[in-house]
Amino acid sequence: MQYGYFDDAAREYVIDHVNVPVSLTNYLGTQRMGAVISHNAGGYCWLDSPQHHRITRFRPNGVPMDWPGHYVYLRDDEDGRYWSLSWQPVGLPPEQARYEARHGLSYSVFSCEYAGTVASETLFIPRESGADDPVEIFDVRVRNTSDRERRLSVYGYVEFSFHEIDMDNQNFQMSLYAAGSHYRGGVCLNELHYEPGAFQFFAGNFDPDGHDGVRDGFIGPYRTERNPLAVEQGTLSGSTELGGNVCGALQKKLVLQPGEEKRILFYLGTGREDAADRARRRYDEAGTDRAFAALREFWEEKLSALQVHTPHENMNRSLNIWNFYQSEINVLFSRFSSFIEVGGRTGLGYRDTAQDAMCIPHGEPDGCLMRVRQLLHGLMREGYGLHLFDPAVLEARDCAVKTPTVIPEADRKSMLHGITDACADDALWLIPAIAENVRESGDLSFFDEVISYADEGEGTVWEHMKAILDFSYRQVGVHGVTKGLRADWNDCLNLGGGESAMVAFLLVWASNHFIDAAGALGRSEDAAHYTKLRNEMIEICRRTLWDGEWFLRGFTAAGDPIGSSAAEEGKVHLESNTWAVISGAATEAQARACMDSVDSWLYTRWGLMLNAPSFRTIDDSIGFVTRVYPGVKENGAIFSHPNPWAWVAECMIGRGGRAMKFYDALLPENQNDQMEIRQAEPYSYCQFIMGRDHTAFGRARHPFMTGSSGWSYYAATRYMLGIRPGFDALTVDPCIPAEWDGFTAVRKWRGAVYRITVANPGHVEKGVLSIEADGQPVSRIPVFSSGTHEIKITMGVSK
Ligand code: GLC
Repeated sequence: MQYGYFDDAAREYVIDHVNVPVSLTNYLGTQRMGAVISHNAGGYCWLDSPQHHRITRFRPNGVPMDWPGHYVYLRDDEDGRYWSLSWQPVGLPPEQARYEARHGLSYSVFSCEYAGTVASETLFIPRESGADDPVEIFDVRVRNTSDRERRLSVYGYVEFSFHEIDMDNQNFQMSLYAAGSHYRGGVCLNELHYEPGAFQFFAGNFDPDGHDGVRDGFIGPYRTERNPLAVEQGTLSGSTELGGNVCGALQKKLVLQPGEEKRILFYLGTGREDAADRARRRYDEAGTDRAFAALREFWEEKLSALQVHTPHENMNRSLNIWNFYQSEINVLFSRFSSFIEVGGRTGLGYRDTAQDAMCIPHGEPDGCLMRVRQLLHGLMREGYGLHLFDPAVLEARDCAVKTPTVIPEADRKSMLHGITDACADDALWLIPAIAENVRESGDLSFFDEVISYADEGEGTVWEHMKAILDFSYRQVGVHGVTKGLRADWNDCLNLGGGESAMVAFLLVWASNHFIDAAGALGRSEDAAHYTKLRNEMIEICRRTLWDGEWFLRGFTAAGDPIGSSAAEEGKVHLESNTWAVISGAATEAQARACMDSVDSWLYTRWGLMLNAPSFRTIDDSIGFVTRVYPGVKENGAIFSHPNPWAWVAECMIGRGGRAMKFYDALLPENQNDQMEIRQAEPYSYCQFIMGRDHTAFGRARHPFMTGSSGWSYYAATRYMLGIRPGFDALTVDPCIPAEWDGFTAVRKWRGAVYRITVANPGHVEKGVLSIEADGQPVSRIPVFSSGTHEIKITMGVSK
């Protein structure tokens, strides 16, 4: 069943059947202020940190599922009927009222046709320039579609949160008495009394006809946001109190002639009434229109860094809009604000952030480089990364407020951890992330930038990279394969001194990136040294990890193989086999055989499972994965993040049809009519989909905040379409289904625009016969520093 459709011209997903069984979420904000908002306008917002500076409250994992939110109610003041502009919270039956939600890029629009009115609420956060106070705007329009004059009331409503989210959720002794409401100058204020000068505001561009600052005053006893007493009665109670649950509720009465439309604006932000006044002045109707247009231009410009036109409509839709958008959200907000991660664990996950920052430097050069620098700073001198750390703490920025209650605060010392808590893969991801960022910018001097280590001392970026490689080449087990430590990419594979095939292959891949960079820099000694170490590791892997038809996943600390043909459970694993190929460590025959095993053991119509069969017997020498239910998350689910690794691997061995088969299985846009099974956003990759060994096979969970987004984009654009910037040339080496006649793409790179046309007259899957740049035959695509250039690639097999 289908609940919505794609409006590509508007770059929106339109939910026209709003009674979706799950919340479909979107993100607002592109800088300091952010919000996660469902198709019911449920959700919350924050400034800088969803943990330390929350603005609105959310009831996580609650019933109903996505309350409260940033709501607007409408009431017919003649007959007392009331409704919300988003379907929830009032939730009129769909046969009475026509609801629609549109999720766009950093904005959402909720609209409702009911009782002779059409009304809409657009939520967005304007992009600030330097000195502006960030603010969320509720842009509301109400039209009278009846043939008589109407008297209506509009109510905006938010529930404020205490700044510290842990305190807001756990310590009501504090949060109920340390924050209070004021009403000044037509503005609802939430005062965070313990923090000097800390306020949040909710205001409108009008003189309110009523207000409430106390949640219970607005909602009333034994009621919910579905039937607030104040809206039902049509009069807000005018409540304020020093203490209690603070809300912002404002009423505006409207008289509308037949056919007339009126527009009113609400503002939600931090600061007092002067901040609200600035918002009113800056974002009057014209200012709001300008800010909204600027937001659309911002995305237009970002997306223009790469636009593709292939014969695959959903691939175009994904790469040109939604997959990039999701990847950008991850770089902007890291991974800690959603309806699953509700803001209490902020900071940067080392490996997740490195991978996010590796995948979209073309569209988000500054953000990716900022993340890379933060991770370089989060590296221990010994060469391993801090698994989860808050850059603000490392940079000694004050992030939490002192209160009389003792709250353990993350301090620099306790954030540093030893090798036992290190994950073997974390810092290895940073090497390709650095390389990809420099390939994008061409700025080789970045390798010589000096950055402090997390513990002590400083070094150049190049020295950091060597420290990472040296650490991993030192950390090997009895077979000579890299140790798994606390975990490798798979959080639930906890091998300690046991060995991880995936990390060994990842080390080979990271070395490849390093050696490539050493070549560009002319650092031949470093290139030779690490080439030798890499080749030795490849030999060890080929010798010890090959099982006959696929690669082992590793060895336990006792030396027992994991993922062999002799095993009953966890026989075949996605991570080790894909990485054996991506790294180039597998021989050609091994590569083909192991990817065939991936296809026959792990493929499902929803994507590739992480391992099969799922583990059922607890075995702590393998790890926590054996305690996870079969078919769930890391134990035999279709874990999305490693799926694109298989697309890359198939492209490396030239099987474009197979890569597309895997791509198509996971692509959310392909599942738009499967909502009753998939139960997730058709425009967002999810962390995992229940695997074949689970009763809910096909059900996807944890949208947006997942490395599958960046990796899907990276694999599809760089390997399937084959558009890869290098240090000194652009490569276009596609691996596509044989039936494709070709495709076109426009790629911006280092100040120039490359208009790429790929022709596939011989209907091959891979192989480039000839390249033309601006009409001239060339052996490789040069780096242009400006202008628009026509690149023609003809695929085929040379005879
Ligand atoms: C989650 C974690 C990620 C990890 C993956 C597999 O997505 O955020 O770091 O690699 O699970 O365990």
